[in-house]
This record gives sequence, C-alpha cells and structure tokens, in this order.
Amino acid sequence: MTTYKIAVIPGDGVGPEVLAEGIKVLQAVAAMDGTFSFEFETFPWGCEYYLKHGKMMDEDGMERLKSFDAIYLGAVGFPGVPDHISLWDLLLKIRKGFDQYINLRPIQLLQGAPCPLAGVKAGEIDMLVVRENSEGEYAGAGDWLFKGKPEEVVLQTGVFSRKGTERVIRYAYELARKTGKTLTSISKGNALNYSMVFWDQVFAEVGKEYPEVKTYSYLVDAASMFFVKDPGRFQIVVTSNLFGDILTDLGAAITGGMGLAAGANLNPERTYPSMFEPIHGSAPDIAGRSIANPLASIWSVSQMLDFFGHEKWGRRVLQAIENVLQEKACLTPDLGGSGKTQEVGDAVVAKLSGQQE
Ligand code: NAI
Ligand code: MG
Repeated sequence: MTTYKIAVIPGDGVGPEVLAEGIKVLQAVAAMDGTFSFEFETFPWGCEYYLKHGKMMDEDGMERLKSFDAIYLGAVGFPGVPDHISLWDLLLKIRKGFDQYINLRPIQLLQGAPCPLAGVKAGEIDMLVVRENSEGEYAGAGDWLFKGKPEEVVLQTGVFSRKGTERVIRYAYELARKTGKTLTSISKGNALNYSMVFWDQVFAEVGKEYPEVKTYSYLVDAASMFFVKDPGRFQIVVTSNLFGDILTDLGAAITGGMGLAAGANLNPERTYPSMFEPIHGSAPDIAGRSIANPLASIWSVSQMLDFFGHEKWGRRVLQAIENVLQEKACLTPDLGGSGKTQEVGDAVVAKLSGQQE
C-alpha cells in the first residue's frame, strides 16, 4: 500500500474551513480505492502565526516540508499583516524554494456552474492555463532609491532567464502534444521590448520541435478581450507569472467564481514537493461562518490525485463536483445556495460513493 505524506497548511480565514473538506474527500477516495492512503501533518503557519511569533513559518520550515509528497495549502492573509509579507514569506517562499515553476490552473465551465457571459454553455470554456511560477515579473528583483525623498525612484525588474522561459514553454508544448489540443502563448512583445520579445522568440524556437501542435500567439490585452468575448478559442494557454495571475482570476470569474478556482504549483521533476491550493484568498469577510465554498479546495485535491498518477480518481472527483453543481441541492451562498461548507463537502463524498465505475 502506498502512503502519501501530505503537509497541510490551512493558513488563515476560510483556509482551514475549506481544506477540511478537501481532506475529507481524499480520505474517502483512499478508502474507496484501497491501494493507497494518506497521512496528514498540519502546520500552523500563516498570518495569525506571524502576529504571535513574528514570522510566517518556522526557520526550519522548508527543511521540514521537503520530505512530504505534497503540500496542501488553504490561504494566507489577515488584516494587520501586510499582504506582501504574507505572500513573500510563505507562499512565494515555498513556490520558489521548491522550484514549483509550473502553475497549472484549469479554467473549465462545469455543468451547473454560473457563467456571467451571455449564451455560453458548459463545456464551451475548457482551457488549462500553464503559468510561469518561478521568475518573470514576480522575481522580486528591483530597488527602492531615495526613499521618501522628492527624487524617489522604484525599480521592479522582470527576470526572464532562458532556462526559466524554455522550461515552462516546453511543458506547455508537451501537454498540448499529449492531449492533442491547441497551444496559445500570451505575451506583450509590442510594449515589453526585451522580456516579451524574448518570450515570443523562445515560443517559436521550442515550437520547431512540436510541428504537430497548432499554436496561436496573442497580446495580453487582446487575450483578455477574447477571454470574455470568445473563450472557446483557448485550449492550453502558456503565459508569464503576472499575466497568468491576472488572466486566471478573469478565468475564474467566467467559470463560476473564486469559490471554484483551483491551482497546482508543480515541480515536475519531483525533486521537491508540489503544492495544491484553492486560488482564492482568506476571505476575511466570510470567515468563521461555515459558508465558504469548499469546491475550489476540493478541485485542487483532484489535481493532486492527477499528479500522483491517479487520474481516474482525479476525474471522478471533478465529476462529483459537477454532479453537486448540477443538482443544486447543496451549494454555498456564493453559488446561490444556503448550504454550509461541511455539507457541500459531504455532498461531494456522497456523489463519489454513488458513482458507477
Ligand atoms: P479573497 O479571494 O480572499 O476574496 C475575494 C472575494 O471572494 C471575497 O468577497 C470573498 O468572500 C470571496 N471568496 C473567496 N473565497 C471564497 C470561497 N471559498 N467561497 C466563497 N466566497 C469566496 O481575496 P481578497 O479579499 O482580495 O484577499 C483577502 C486576503 O487574502 C488578503 O489578505 C490577501 O492578501 C489574501 N490572499 C491570499 C491568497 C493566497 O493565500 N493564495 C490569494 C489571494 C489573496
Ligand atoms: Mg492571484
């Protein structure tokens, strides 16, 4: 029997509430399958921890996380702790420290999920965004000169290495080839005359090795317009760290909202653990009331199962989410229901158990 060791970092706000439901689903899957199991260890890190201890995670935190098969993260963010501290000292520390250079975000309109776009039906939005996750605009490079003086200058430098750019683009081509889907690169070569010209060049270069993959290239502003006006034209999408961050929130908005959006931070070589998370924040406005939607958190569990090679279970979890959405009997308020977080988790487990093999 394989046992997967999962480091659980519930974090702040609704983080712990939604992760509990994902764990429930993982346990149900393991019980139904019978050939693998999960072992969970919870780490109390986050902003509330920061307020007590002056740090987002323990000094030996990365060392301790290293031995796990995966990290399951809720959300970090708490009033009183600046967002750049919570982001850089926990989330980005893990993404960068464990070289999780692929951020995989499915943008898929499931049956029963609300879509604000007129006339768009389930299945008509079905893309997978491959976001560069280790450098680019979020490399943290720059300077702050003459702070507070009239001549104050700040520099925020985008870092696009050949290695970093090639590997994410190659990953996307591989995915497109494997799935037989089209690949769209989103960049901004007209205005960002170094980084994005380089990006476009690498996209074309690597593409020579994948003649069978049909490709498109869009500027990010045009792509944003098409996300709304014609999302069906996108299948696999590859883009930079910043553009991917923004576009996937837009993607979430057209496929049911933040309560349904999941993301995987992958170290494809598996040298380090990969991290799975709902992409929403700690939602302080609704925390502690058991009304947070756990479906994003459960969707990220489906991504975790895929990554472990249990794609059959990954699909079944997604199918169970879709069944719960379609039935509409038990949904949280963000999806127009009056169900509680725990009840939605139970409903997904019930659908899983009721599925035909
Ligand atoms: P947010 O994602 O927490 O909330 C945005 C809106 O979506 C809110 O109205 C919230 O109620 C709603 N929402 C979010 N998750 C939901 C869920 N599961 N079910 C139902 N509704 C949900 O973003 P916001 O308000 O900008 O940030 C709040 C805090 O979270 C900040 O401190 C921010 O830095 C942090 N944050 C953390 C992230 C992470 O840990 N990955 C990502 C984004 C924000
Ligand atoms: Mg974001």
